[in-house]
Amino acid sequence: MGTPSNKKRVLSGMRSTGKLHLGNYVGALENWVRMQEQYDCFFFIADWHALTTDYADTSRVKENSVEVLLDWLAAGLDPEKCVMFIQSHVPAHAELHLLLSMITPLGWLERVPTYKEQRENIKEKDLGTYGFLGYPVLQSADILIYKADFVPVGEDQVAHVELTREIARRFNGFYAGKREYVFPEPQALLTPTPKLPGTDGRKMSKSYGNTIMLTDPEPVVRQKLKTMVTDPARIRRSDPGNPDLCPVGDLHKIFSDTATMAKVNEGCRSAGIGCIECKGWAADALVKVLNPMQERRKKYEDNPHLAWDILEAGSARAAKVAGATMDEVRDSMGMSLNYEPQRSSAK
Ligand code: TRP
Ligand code: SF4
Repeated sequence: MGTPSNKKRVLSGMRSTGKLHLGNYVGALENWVRMQEQYDCFFFIADWHALTTDYADTSRVKENSVEVLLDWLAAGLDPEKCVMFIQSHVPAHAELHLLLSMITPLGWLERVPTYKEQRENIKEKDLGTYGFLGYPVLQSADILIYKADFVPVGEDQVAHVELTREIARRFNGFYAGKREYVFPEPQALLTPTPKLPGTDGRKMSKSYGNTIMLTDPEPVVRQKLKTMVTDPARIRRSDPGNPDLCPVGDLHKIFSDTATMAKVNEGCRSAGIGCIECKGWAADALVKVLNPMQERRKKYEDNPHLAWDILEAGSARAAKVAGATMDEVRDSMGMSLNYEPQRSSAK
């Protein structure tokens, strides 16, 4: 790192929700770890975004950010290969958010699918706030301030990247002036997500309480697997089953090697193996993935300053890039910080 590169730039963020689970790993983090080898990557902890829904109690925000960072490092994100930072440590995101909010029509925000869904589904909090409606504008600022080429996200976030493109176009239309454009239009990279069920067979999610955490020690992983639901057709040991209809089978498909997968397929369908044995193999495969992560995590847990230093250094690097974009943004709007009154290039 350190030298400017001609690699394409990737940016993505994760809310500071605290410790991560296997679903976060398979759905996003694993992909990021791969991308850092190939792209100029910026990954940030979206602590301001966490406030859009959890604004009333901020007592755990910082702690949750650190937990996310520790899991990133555990999973193999490497500060030598990518820039990791916290959103709130780069206040320029807020300045760009403000400027973009001026040009974003309300109708665009009211149409965002996650807005409507969450207003309907989350009843226990009052989401009738300015910040919650404007949250996709903040996300646009996060992306545009780094002029990201690619934004790896899950399905639910694609509409936000689409909105970002529209806001970029509108900004360029108003203010690019003699420039070809100020903001390039970013492209969403849909993360291929294999189906990762939680212990109850539904999608793994913190709110369902069915997660396997990246920090779960081996006995906990084994215990969770024991309680995991299986193909409902296998009531007795002698009933044949089908791994394609079994959440444990889904885990095998993601984490087990082909030899184990073959044993599972044969044994399940012929009732040659029992579910307890099969779950033991799935646990073996998980433990093999989690063990090295937990070892890496321990190094940082034992030296919390190491992790914090990584964030500070990353935030400083990010702030430099963001600052350069903001100079250009202010200049294009005829509002540069220099004393010299400018000929507005906006007209
Ligand atoms: N909104 C994203 C989520 O809830 C997190 C996020 C914030 C993000 N800013 C971003 C993702 C910018 C990608 C790019 O998961
Ligand atoms: Fe699921 Fe394995 Fe039992 Fe088959 S043997 S039903 S794949 S747990």
